[in-house]
This record gives sequence, structure tokens and C-alpha cells, in this order.
Amino acid sequence: MILILLGAPGVGKGTQGELISKHYNIPEISTGDILRSEVKNETELGKKAKVYMDKGELVPDDVIIGMMENRIKQNDCKNGFILDGFPRTVAQAEAFDRMLEKNNLELYKVLLIDVKEEEIISRLTGRRVCPNCGAVYHIKNKPPKEEGVCDNCGSKLIQRDDDKEEVVRNRLEVYKKNTMPLVDYYTKSSKLVKIEGSGEINDIFERIKKVLG
Ligand code: AP5
Repeated sequence: MILILLGAPGVGKGTQGELISKHYNIPEISTGDILRSEVKNETELGKKAKVYMDKGELVPDDVIIGMMENRIKQNDCKNGFILDGFPRTVAQAEAFDRMLEKNNLELYKVLLIDVKEEEIISRLTGRRVCPNCGAVYHIKNKPPKEEGVCDNCGSKLIQRDDDKEEVVRNRLEVYKKNTMPLVDYYTKSSKLVKIEGSGEINDIFERIKKVLG
């Protein structure tokens, strides 16, 4: 099963992607997570990407497309995968179509997760992440057991640099301009299903399971 999770920053692509990945036993591939790991390791790619990420702008298409071509060839993708944060432009979507064709693969569905803008801002400004294991929390909606400390590994939680309010607002503008055209792109191929993304995390996952079967 090959799935794309589409939606604005903060709608819960990572949160739901993790649940789908565990339930269906296929990897979740988050371009944001891959890029953040490159930044942390101070690789050439990471240094280049950081300049864009800190401002909430998109990393250039050629960088992302090359990175994804390599990732989906890995062995863990042989029974399918979930894409979180890719494609994000029409050029990336066209390149992904070519990757599918070249590897004889078929896209199953595109889940468009929809949440109102004000809720997105509150979700993102309240998000805290673990810099060590990548676990994601929210100060109100999904707090860790001990404030500021990761449940999984005990590391001190941090706020992502791009979760500051002014950067969040720019990310939303970038989404509208560059990524929203993909709604039309995937509606045309009849793969797109809209999911109401407000409410309890588990209720949203139930909606998704109904769609995926
Ligand atoms: P990326 O990491 O992909 O960021 P994003 O798309 O902006 O998505 P987020 O991770 O912010 O949100 P999410 O939808 O996963 O929400 P989450 O589940 O965490 O990209 C970062 C940057 O990398 C980009 O700006 C760009 O520079 C670059 N980049 C990445 N991919 C690229 C590409 N393809 N091309 C070019 N550049 C690229 O949830 C958010 C919060 O809400 C959490 O705190 C969570 O606990 C909480 N929450 C989740 N669900 C609920 C709920 N139902 N109710 C209440 N709270 C909830």
C-alpha cells in the first residue's frame, strides 16, 4: 500500500502517519524528519536545507526528489510506504509519478487531512519534540507524563525552530501557494480522500482506517 498524507503544516500528518505505520506495518517516510536528521548531523545537504527550513520556505525540488528516489528503493519499502511531507509541489508530484512508473508501483490513496487555520497555529506553537528519539508531544493536547521530558527516552523536549508563530504563518502561506495545487492534481486521478482532522487523535485514526479498509 502506497499512501500520501497531504495537508497543511500541523494537521497531524506525522501523528497519524505513525499510527498508520504501526497498524499496517509499513514505514512512514517524513521528508521533514529526514531533513532534520541531516541538519543535526551537519551534512552538506543539511547545511543547505537549514537555510530554507528556518524561514519556513521549501527546500529546492531537485534536492528533495533525489533524496526520495533513494529512500523508496530501500528494502523496507517493498510492501509499501506512507509519505508525510512529500510531494509538496506539482514538480515533486510529477517526479513521484515517474518514480512509480519506473518501479512498476501504484499509488493507493492520497489522504487530505483538513484542520482550520487557527487550530493549526495553536497546535504548532504548542508542539514539543524529542531531539533524541523524535517523539512528538503537545503541551496541552498530548503532554508527556513529566513536563518537558520525553516519555520514551527521558531526553529534554525542545520546540522546533520553525514552530515559532511568525515562521508558522509563513509555512501556511507557502503551503497555500505551492502545495494546495496538489489537491486538484490528485482529485483528477480520483485518488484523493478528505479526512476531517479535528477531534481526538484516535477518532481521526478510526476515520482513516475506514477509508483504508
Ligand atoms: P515538515 O516536518 O514536513 O513540516 P510540516 O509539513 O510543516 O508538518 P508538521 O511536521 O509541522 O506537521 P504534521 O502535519 O506532521 O503535524 P503533527 O502530527 O506533528 O517540514 C518541515 C520543513 O522541511 C518545511 O518547512 C520545508 O522547509 C522542509 N521540507 C519538508 N518536506 C519538503 C518537501 N517535500 N519539499 C521541500 N521542502 C520540504 O502535529 C502537530 C501538533 O499537533 C503536535 O504537537 C501533535 O501532538 C498535535 N496534534 C496532532 N493531532 C492532533 C489532534 N487531533 N488534536 C490536537 N492536537 C493534535
